[in-house]
Amino acid sequence: MEQQKRYGHFDDQHREYVITDPQTPWPWINYLGNEDFFSLISNTAGGYSFYKDAKFRRITRYRYNNVPMDNGGRYFYIKDGETVWNPGWKPCKTPLDFYECRHGMSYTRITGRKNGVEASVLFFVPLKKWAEVQKLTLKNESQEVKQLKLFSFEEWCLWNAATDMENFQRNFSTGEVEIEGSTIYHKTEYRERRNHYAFYHVNAEIQGFDTDRETFVGLYNEFANPDAVMEGRPRNSHAHGWSPIASHYIEVTLQPGESKDFVFLLGYIENEQDEKFEAPQVINKKKAHDLIAGLDTTDKVDRAFDMLCAYWDALLNIYKVRTGNDKLDRMVNIWNQYQCMVTFNFSRSASFFESGVGRGMGFRDSNQDLVGFVHQIPPRARQRIIDIASTQFPDGGCYHQYQPLTKRGNNDIGGGFNDDPCWLIFGTVAYIKETGDFSILDEMVPFDNQPGSEVTLFEHLKISMDHVINNLGPHMLPLIGRADWNDCLNLNCFSWDPNESFQTTENVSEGTKAESLMIAGLFVVTGKDYVALCKKIGKTDEAARMQAAVDAMIEAVKKHGWDGEWYLRAYDFYGRKIGSNECDEAKIFIESQGWCTMAEIGAEDGLVAKSLDSCKKYLECEHGMVLNNPAFTKYIYEYGEISSYPEGYKENAGIFCHNNPWVIIGECLAGRGNDAWSHYAKILPSYVEEKYQTLHKVEPYVNCQMVAGKDAFRPGEGKNSWLTGTAAWMWYTVSEFILGIKPDYDGIRIDPCLPETAKTYTVQRKFREAEYEITIHPNGAQKGVKQIILDGQPIDGTVIPYSPGKHVVEATM
Ligand code: BGC
Ligand code: NOJ
Repeated sequence: MEQQKRYGHFDDQHREYVITDPQTPWPWINYLGNEDFFSLISNTAGGYSFYKDAKFRRITRYRYNNVPMDNGGRYFYIKDGETVWNPGWKPCKTPLDFYECRHGMSYTRITGRKNGVEASVLFFVPLKKWAEVQKLTLKNESQEVKQLKLFSFEEWCLWNAATDMENFQRNFSTGEVEIEGSTIYHKTEYRERRNHYAFYHVNAEIQGFDTDRETFVGLYNEFANPDAVMEGRPRNSHAHGWSPIASHYIEVTLQPGESKDFVFLLGYIENEQDEKFEAPQVINKKKAHDLIAGLDTTDKVDRAFDMLCAYWDALLNIYKVRTGNDKLDRMVNIWNQYQCMVTFNFSRSASFFESGVGRGMGFRDSNQDLVGFVHQIPPRARQRIIDIASTQFPDGGCYHQYQPLTKRGNNDIGGGFNDDPCWLIFGTVAYIKETGDFSILDEMVPFDNQPGSEVTLFEHLKISMDHVINNLGPHMLPLIGRADWNDCLNLNCFSWDPNESFQTTENVSEGTKAESLMIAGLFVVTGKDYVALCKKIGKTDEAARMQAAVDAMIEAVKKHGWDGEWYLRAYDFYGRKIGSNECDEAKIFIESQGWCTMAEIGAEDGLVAKSLDSCKKYLECEHGMVLNNPAFTKYIYEYGEISSYPEGYKENAGIFCHNNPWVIIGECLAGRGNDAWSHYAKILPSYVEEKYQTLHKVEPYVNCQMVAGKDAFRPGEGKNSWLTGTAAWMWYTVSEFILGIKPDYDGIRIDPCLPETAKTYTVQRKFREAEYEITIHPNGAQKGVKQIILDGQPIDGTVIPYSPGKHVVEATM
């Protein structure tokens, strides 16, 4: 194997990934902010900020998919004599004497050194604040006095990121700013319907500023050589329309050895309707002044940073494992949980692969994200469940997406994805098992956000199940609708017109026989959960009704969903098999293997074991399991988008990391620990990090959505990092099925499934008002807990009954 260049390494003690070369194979980013105010930041300080919604409240501008890569960000220019440089290397790209970027838990620290000056910037969003702090420390490490000229730079986006890109004829005339001392205010459209503005402040006296981009940069220059910086002379420009920016100019003198801190603050403010102005056309700055006053010294900022770190300490103390395998421990204890928080916050909206304007929160996506996050901050998960359910329709169907700011369903995409309803059960059950809070089932939740339409959340779960039952096809299997989990299996689309969207087009669906085995498996898994929940809350009739539906589905799968060596994937519009040995291409698909093995359909007849073996035989490769095999080599009118992708990419035989865990869980339920582990390690970032930094291309500390499969031009190349259901599924798989710590209504079930090489390990788990220290002795077994000792006493079975307080548990396999 070719030796791969390394761009960084893990620092587990600080919970950081340390990037040592700014020219990573793709921008390696981080997220700042935990609620409301968010930023994306690359390892060269590129990226942008927004409030709640990356589409409707974009604060700073970013240029996606551009040349050069990663354009737009918070840039500090340091002019030292004739040399101009940036601590994060970009945009000037002046070679640095030292460069380092440390991505940590909701913060990033970028340090550059040039000609005896060190500039280190700590970026973070303080808890509960609507602002990004940028604490810049300049240090003179040389023997001479340094006279530096410092320019800051942010470019305002005119709020709606979509119209900012589309309707600039209007925006070129709307931009407005105010300048007060060391604060630059961005107040575009504030006079009309808007009640919000943003500001960029520094806690030092400034010797100049700029707010007009053209004046500062020069029309035909680049961020790499702005006129004002190159000449070392700000223009004190005042933007009227065109493209407003914010740049402070500060002259800094540093004695040998001396260092100085500057706190820059990018803030967002909303005012009450009747308190908008302090004078005609002058914005009321009171709230901005207050926000600034809380963060205007190094001390205050350091305290805010300590609080952020303490917040993450607490979150990451809820589930902690010690196995002695660093690569496993760092993913479980740090990065996987961190990525789960990020996907919970953003769903699939804002990353370096998603522009933030296209998709809001996904119905199925956010329900799955919940499962990776619910142990961290249950009240936020609770609210999310209510928000999601509020976008459901009275027949149980749902909007596929909704906007985080308005919480309204997204009409552009609409509904009709027939797997969507089931995920509400998946998310809700996870929440109740974690918290024991059954009261959520009694919450009154509207349909399509219409006041007056409220029914209980339990009723929403019921109609979700019914939506599947009411939409069965000729084999009594679920009708697929526009698509199931696989957005690209569009069996009712029938499109020859490249201008039609695969997602929203149903040229023919009347009389369809298109059925999904993925939904069938999902229905059985969530149906069993629903039945158990009904029994738990005393709804025995409903439990019996649904058990019958689940049993019928199991029978339908056994009868019409088995192909001999694996589960079929679907039936097409005409009732022909998809994912069958009879097909020319795509004979086997992963989704139905995952869901039907998780549902354990036909396990007694050996179906599960055969399906899992087929995954190994036909889907597995060096980098994980591909989605289908063989790949489609041509577009199939009856199948839609899936067959539009080149072989080995995306839904056409890419390694969709998201659904590898489904098969891994199937393996765990079947007790095949060696296989479960080897599948898991293949897509575990820390194992990939060690071998393939260049090939993998995207961030090595988080999972990406898709890794090019065995049929691709460059197998192993990753794409679409960060915002993927893979995060939650990796977490669910390792925490509950591999390490075997499974929250349940009455306690914690201990049921690991491990490779036979596993050694004794310990999990610290906070659970409701209890704290467990659980040590597991595998003794070479892959599955099966023989005995559990709770606080010195043996217990029956594998569930530790919940009781508040501290407990010590020993489990022997
Ligand atoms: C992609 C999917 C994605 C969908 C929705 C498709 O083009 O391949 O992965 O979920 O679009 O935006
Ligand atoms: C990405 C989407 O966000 C998710 O909802 C979907 O299931 C997968 N793509 C597979 O198509």
